[in-house]
Amino acid sequence: ALTTELRTQLQLREVAGIPLQASTVDNWSQIQNFEAKPDDLLICTYPKSGTTWIQEIVDMIEQNGDVEKCQRAVIQHRHPFIEWARPPQPSANAKDCMVSYYHFQRMNQMLPDPGTWEEYFETFINGKVGWGSWYDHVKGWWEMKDSYQILFLFFEDIKRDPKQEIQKVMQFMGKSLHETVLDKIVQETSFEKMKENPMTNRSTVPKSILDQSISPFIRKGTVGDWKNHFTVVQSERFDEIYRQKMEGTSINFCMEL
Ligand code: A3P
Repeated sequence: ALTTELRTQLQLREVAGIPLQASTVDNWSQIQNFEAKPDDLLICTYPKSGTTWIQEIVDMIEQNGDVEKCQRAVIQHRHPFIEWARPPQPSANAKDCMVSYYHFQRMNQMLPDPGTWEEYFETFINGKVGWGSWYDHVKGWWEMKDSYQILFLFFEDIKRDPKQEIQKVMQFMGKSLHETVLDKIVQETSFEKMKENPMTNRSTVPKSILDQSISPFIRKGTVGDWKNHFTVVQSERFDEIYRQKMEGTSINFCMEL
């Protein structure tokens, strides 16, 4: 079990209205003052949108498809989260994202209990979840994408045509890899491989933090799992809220493949 001190440290508090883990809030100035080097690559994802997947893809490209090199450490150490100033660990589509996040909060003992699915629906649409509102995150980066060196990727696209999207990442990183290496990266970053890979599946994180018996970290990896969770009424209400919140943005998500 987690100590009371650790639990307090892990509660969500707010920075500029965005709920974040207390340990992040306490170190906010350090995080805000972070200065990137010109060739730094930042992966910016909303939680539960395929962060781990793109991390593994980027590292595989960086290491020219060398699987052994990508085994050198667990993924959260190879690509540390910038906002985890002090790692608290002691040792798509919007509907799918909400489903994934719900299951993640069920199993992640460091995040608030999500409550029932009905309760979580309200929490999520109101942005009262860790890292804030999904809508604000997506809109914000979408609006910035042409003003900075930003490669905007969709989980659904990587799912539909991994090779094409991995190629985009490769070009963005200024790398050029042989076709066979690309094919290998596609294979090594597949759902099945990453689910079994101890360097990506978080199996080394203690059960008191991530209880994978409740829900595995690499859970389903599909597009359209929301259909197994949303009632028709919820789906229609979600669509209406989505329309309002995303009004005026040109972003276009596909909801199924
Ligand atoms: P599900 O919970 O819907 O299965 P993050 O890494 O940002 O926490 O995102 C987690 C989601 O990405 C989970 O979705 C997980 O299964 C999925 N995922 C991780 N690796 C994947 C892969 N190689 N292919 C497809 N989906 C993957």
